[in-house]
Amino acid sequence: MVRRRRMVRNYDPERPMLPELLERILNNAIRAPSAGFSQGWGFLVLDRRADVDRFWAAASPEDGVKHGWLAGMRRAPVIVVPHANKTAYLDRYAESDKGWTDRDEARWPVPYWDIDTGFAALLMLLTAVDSDLAACFFGIMPERIEPYRREFGVPPEFHPIGAITIGYPADDVRSPSLRRGRRGLSEVVHRGAWRRSPG
Ligand SMILES: Cc1cc2nc3c(=O)[nH]c(=O)nc-3n(C[C@H](O)[C@H](O)[C@H](O)COP(=O)(O)O)c2cc1C
Repeated sequence: MVRRRRMVRNYDPERPMLPELLERILNNAIRAPSAGFSQGWGFLVLDRRADVDRFWAAASPEDGVKHGWLAGMRRAPVIVVPHANKTAYLDRYAESDKGWTDRDEARWPVPYWDIDTGFAALLMLLTAVDSDLAACFFGIMPERIEPYRREFGVPPEFHPIGAITIGYPADDVRSPSLRRGRRGLSEVVHRGAWRRSPG
């Protein structure tokens, strides 16, 4: 499943997604790990054509139309937008077993709210592959966040970390980024230490 997963940017418009497959994907998303079991995420699910079209109207990057990479993406029958809720984490960690009652964000080594929502997103990507579907995680540009929020009434504490198209794959053009090649273990893994200490 891990080897088969890749971001797919073109979908078969003739093949709608079975509702039970979408439910399977969502049920797996909430199995993701989360700091303090905060589960501070929220998922906007768009599975009606009119809603998917409203998403693209609100959230498309300007240059997406220019470069055409969105043409195939727009054919996806389903979009899931995973949101992170920082407030849920600050609240959870202010509880007595954690004790961070000052709610100071400097305590957080990295934004766990984004990390956990990303874990949930990856589970959705993998579940799509396991269901013979295809998916693509992509960013919503900063200037499109407010129009997106307004269109779908997203509460202020929820921040979209990106969006995921899901559907049956159609012929796809591979991303030019892949020409970079996959960095190998010898480049990215440091065994025992990052650098050998001198001597
Ligand atoms: C955080 C994140 C943001 C991404 N944003 C975009 C995007 O905006 N548009 C897009 O086409 N692909 C996007 N991708 C997909 C990457 O280009 C893709 O994962 C990478 O080229 C490797 O290809 P693969 O996932 O098919 O193995 C994104 C991936 C991640 C993890």
